[in-house]
Amino acid sequence: MARIVDAADALDLAAEEIAAGRPVALPTETVYGLAADATNGEAVASIYEAKGRPRFNPLIVHVDGWDLAERVGAFDPLSRKLGEAFWPGPLTLVVPKADASPVHPLATAGLDTVGIRMPKGFAALLIRKLGRPLAAPSANSSGRISGTTAQAVNDDLGRRIGLVVDGGKTRVGVESTIVQVVGDTVRLLRPGGVSAEEIERVAGVPVVRGKTGDTVALGGAVVAPGMLASHYAPRAGMRLNAVGVRTGEALLAFGAVRAKGADRAIQMLNLSETGDLREAAANLFSFMQALDRSGTATIAVEPVPGHGLGEAINDRLARAAAPRDNPMASS
Ligand code: TXA
Ligand code: MG
Repeated sequence: MARIVDAADALDLAAEEIAAGRPVALPTETVYGLAADATNGEAVASIYEAKGRPRFNPLIVHVDGWDLAERVGAFDPLSRKLGEAFWPGPLTLVVPKADASPVHPLATAGLDTVGIRMPKGFAALLIRKLGRPLAAPSANSSGRISGTTAQAVNDDLGRRIGLVVDGGKTRVGVESTIVQVVGDTVRLLRPGGVSAEEIERVAGVPVVRGKTGDTVALGGAVVAPGMLASHYAPRAGMRLNAVGVRTGEALLAFGAVRAKGADRAIQMLNLSETGDLREAAANLFSFMQALDRSGTATIAVEPVPGHGLGEAINDRLARAAAPRDNPMASS
């Protein structure tokens, strides 16, 4: 089981763990988060790994103040107004990534937007001490409910992480509300600790309500999940489990053994020469983007084993390879 350390004594230890690239479970005002340095791809990969049955969903990036928030994301006036009204607190704003945002592409699942939240308490102190943003999903294994006590987190994740910071029972008890300003409308991507009514009062415009993070009702019509571009989809087609490379293709390689005709590839990037799935996860989105920029019509992808983080890597590759009119492609 993980070490449980009282928040009053845990700041130095938690900072050391995060700096060493190990995820730490910590309290926020909403629920416990499983935090890692948002700028370190392998540290972010270990978050997905610790959650079990991993999926590369975009993670919320936590900041301690506006200086860091503005290095991470680009705020339009309405998003800024909402942040000023509800931060620090249980609101997450999805905004475009800032130019030269230090956030690693794995934390945003390759998106050009980023979900940002300014929490209160221990998390804010830790971010200040590190001078770095923290990526943190709720501290629960896949399919379990979010932990609101250190004990619940330890029961669920204690075998897979080293440290749980105990800040008592979280005050809000549900996750943050997630909104995204689109033009002059505010879309509710997930209801949470701040009510839509409170947001409307500050925004001065109605909040466009959705059902879940996956489906959003626009003017009463439910938009199919795939229509919300919640994941990076390459422009090029993807050919998975390639054992040979065809003329004109780019190659996304994995491990020490090359596909036949690899020297034909117009460009090749290797997710991990040593076959390390954590390294591969950290490289996945940036390498797909780089190969996409080569202008190739097809990216051939060597087989990636399915265990551990390989499950999430293969899930993401399958989505990227799915036909574009198929909601799987971007949901
Ligand atoms: O209260 C909370 O929000 C907690 C604490 C730890 O901060 N965090 C949390 O994270 O609930 P998580 O990973 O369980 O949920 C994050 C949600 C996911 O549904 C994800 O799809 C969405 O945020 N999200 C993050 N970045 C996004 C983006 N750029 N665009 C759309 N959705 C995004
Ligand atoms: Mg969650």
